[in-house]
Amino acid sequence: MNHDVLLAPSILSADFGTLADGVREVDQAGADWIHVDVMDGHFVPNISFGPAVTAAVGRSTDRPLDVHLMIAEPDRYLEAFADAGARVLTVHWEACPHLHRTVQRIRELGMAPGVALNPATPVGGIEDLLPDLDLVLIMSVNPGFGGQRFIPRSLARIRQARALLDAAGSAARLEVDGGVTPDNAAAVVAAGADVLVAGSAVFRHEHGARGGVEAMREAIVGARLRSV
Ligand code: DX5
Ligand code: ZN
Repeated sequence: MNHDVLLAPSILSADFGTLADGVREVDQAGADWIHVDVMDGHFVPNISFGPAVTAAVGRSTDRPLDVHLMIAEPDRYLEAFADAGARVLTVHWEACPHLHRTVQRIRELGMAPGVALNPATPVGGIEDLLPDLDLVLIMSVNPGFGGQRFIPRSLARIRQARALLDAAGSAARLEVDGGVTPDNAAAVVAAGADVLVAGSAVFRHEHGARGGVEAMREAIVGARLRSV
């Protein structure tokens, strides 16, 4: 793994009443990507927001929007999220019967395609698709809510995904989402992740979102230093 580890704060845990301020705060604190969690109340139990809010987030930051679709039939909305300014668009393996076609379409629309795997989905399921992907997302909680606990078994799944990517010679990023905090960030990076999503660890930090970004950044830098 040659690239830097990126931090992608999830705005799901931000105060929606002052969302633009929250986005600007993490941008100025040095977030690399802004992670946008889209939920439909069908694929996952919760409902969050859609393309209009995604576009509004993009008006508050120049950082790439990393859009995570937790929705059924995502093919119906790929164009809407391209228009909303998504740079990375991730769909769920479990939601796409024709995943290869979905991934091609995301790229045709000018976005970087990602595929997310729920905790019970075999990591090997993405192997045949790796040459077409820019990102693999390992869910370390069951998707739907912020603030859940990291599932410990996820570390082995991250290692397995890293081994698959390396064996395929893939430069796709390996993102981890759910329950990532300054306490486990080093272990997540050591397992092979290079994009860390953090919602509550950033936006619910005792010193505000800036404090959350800084705490995550310190944990990531610590992990990198230890590995060289
Ligand atoms: C979970 C979402 C996550 C979530 C992460 O369904 O995909 O992005 O917002 O929040 P934390 O970091 O609080 O687990
Ligand atoms: Zn997410």
